[in-house]
Amino acid sequence: MSFVHAHRGVRIAGCGSSLPERRLTNADLEKMMDTSDEWIVKRTGISERRVFDRDHGPSTAKLGEQALREALADADLAPTDLDLLVVATMTADMPTPGVGPTVAAALECGNVGAMDINAACSGFVFSLNVAHEMTRSGRYQNVGVIGVDTITRFVDYSTYGRGAAILFGDAASAFIIRADADERLGLIAETMHTDGHGAKHLFIPTCAEQFYEDEYDDRKVGRVQMNGQAVFKFAVKKFPEVIEQTLEKAGLAAEDVDHYVCHQANARILEAARDRFGLAPERLTVNIDRYGNTVAASCPLVFDELKQAGRVEPGQKVMFIAFGAGLTWGASLWQL
Ligand code: ACO
Repeated sequence: MSFVHAHRGVRIAGCGSSLPERRLTNADLEKMMDTSDEWIVKRTGISERRVFDRDHGPSTAKLGEQALREALADADLAPTDLDLLVVATMTADMPTPGVGPTVAAALECGNVGAMDINAACSGFVFSLNVAHEMTRSGRYQNVGVIGVDTITRFVDYSTYGRGAAILFGDAASAFIIRADADERLGLIAETMHTDGHGAKHLFIPTCAEQFYEDEYDDRKVGRVQMNGQAVFKFAVKKFPEVIEQTLEKAGLAAEDVDHYVCHQANARILEAARDRFGLAPERLTVNIDRYGNTVAASCPLVFDELKQAGRVEPGQKVMFIAFGAGLTWGASLWQL
């Protein structure tokens, strides 16, 4: 394909989300493991999360499909208008095919290019950066970007697995990004980083050989393994660092950004970032109380809620920020 427009703008033309109906409250968890509402709220800010029904509920692809359908309706586009589909997920239903091809077929998008990107909780931000460049370059016109994970399949809801089990929820959220004649719209700056040496702090082993040091236990195979304190320290350091780095690239000050749309991993991490940059609560929205950590769906879900509440307007600047397993971290700063 030729480069029709070497320089053009990119617009977030629509967004939509899909959440499983089942609510898992802290009171429910109290019945399943040795924990308490007080402990969970104090350490994480989470009150409830959504989980898909393991027996009858929607799969990762199904949740992603519903979110993309909503986003297409919001953008007033048909599935066949898409010419690229990028799905951020670390919990595809099968090793292959990916969620992208399955969603594209379910929505009858035609032979659209469709793929998955796995960067854990940073997946949506990384995917947004990639999709933006494919659109800005003139190669693609209408791109679907989905963040979806059903991570609760990989947590152990017993006292043994309580460290990670309380944190996570399932969700999908999607954007439609479109080429736009207004060159000012789109990415102002982006940042993407990984440190594979930190993989041992957050991983899902599939066999005994994948464990670090002497930590193997059969109960841990196929379950999220997380060194909560190490991840917490990493996040508290990298969150402000990546915001500063991205602001510097853009030549902007913290107060120039209208919304900091952050990965919801822990309310304490988000509040620390707010304090560090002197941000009013409405500039950095926290919705972890209702959904927990929804991995790749986390950032777009916050943005979708802001949009539904009428708080997103043309002319605003929005920074998406995430960190996660890998370890990965990154940001995407947009002019709306
Ligand atoms: N309920 C009650 N007690 C618990 C629970 C629980 N669910 N989990 C752990 N405890 C206990 C521990 O056993 C420990 O007891 P002890 O002192 O008797 O040994 C005590 O509480 C403290 O445990 P810590 O793990 O030190 O608790 P901490 O204050 O670090 O909080 C938490 C744990 C909430 C997980 C925190 O470390 C955190 O949020 N870390 C970041 C995690 C994160 O962001 N992960 C997602 C990354 S995104 C991705 O890519 C998937």
